[in-house]
Amino acid sequence: MPFIIAIDGPAASGKGTIARALAAELGFHHLDTGLLYRATGAKGGDPVAAARGLTAADLARDDLRSAAAGQAASRIAAIPEVRAALVAFQHCFAAQDPGAVLDGRDIGTVIYPGAEVKLYVTASDAVRAARRAAELGADPDQMLAELRERDLRDSQRDVAPLRPAEDAVVLDTSTLSIEEAVARALAEVRRVR
Ligand code: C5P
Repeated sequence: MPFIIAIDGPAASGKGTIARALAAELGFHHLDTGLLYRATGAKGGDPVAAARGLTAADLARDDLRSAAAGQAASRIAAIPEVRAALVAFQHCFAAQDPGAVLDGRDIGTVIYPGAEVKLYVTASDAVRAARRAAELGADPDQMLAELRERDLRDSQRDVAPLRPAEDAVVLDTSTLSIEEAVARALAEVRRVR
C-alpha cells in the first residue's frame, strides 16, 4: 500500500515547498492539487466540463501561477461538481508506490482522511503576503488583500472548506527557515515511517 502524506494550509504558507522537499527526500511522488483548480479556472467556459476534461497540456500552462489564476481557481473550487470531477485523478495519483505527498486545502479532511501523515501548514498573514510578493514581484499590501480574500472564500465555502483535520499536526512556518520547516515536517513523517 502506498504511504500518503497530506499537507493542507492557506496560500503561501510554505506547504508546496515542504511537500516538494519531503517527496524528494523520501523518493515519493508529489501532486500540487492547487494546480488542478488553477488549470480548471484558467480554461474558462463551463468549469464542470473543464474539470472533467482536464488534460496534461492544461496543467502545463505557464500562466497558472499568477494571482489572477489563484482567484479564478478559488471561485470554481467552491462548486461541488468541480471538486467531484477532480477526486479520481487525485486518488489515482496517490495510488503509486512507494508513496505520495499531496498538498492542497482538503487532502487530510476529504481526499485522504486516512493519510498516514497529516500536516496543516500555516503562517501569519503578513509573512505569507511578503513571501508571495517576493515570488511574484508584486506589492505586499496588494498580496495581503488578495490572500485574505482567497483564504476567506476557501474557508467559508460549504464543500471541503479549508480547515485542519482533527488529527493534523499544525506547523506554523512564520518564524522558520525553509530548512527548519522541512526538518520538522520530516520528523513527523519519521515518527510513523
Ligand atoms: O494552492 P493554490 O494557491 O495553488 O490553490 C489555488 C486555489 O485552488 C485555492 O485558493 C483553493 O480555492 C483551490 N484549492 C482547493 N483545494 C485544493 C487545492 C486548491 O480548493 N486541494
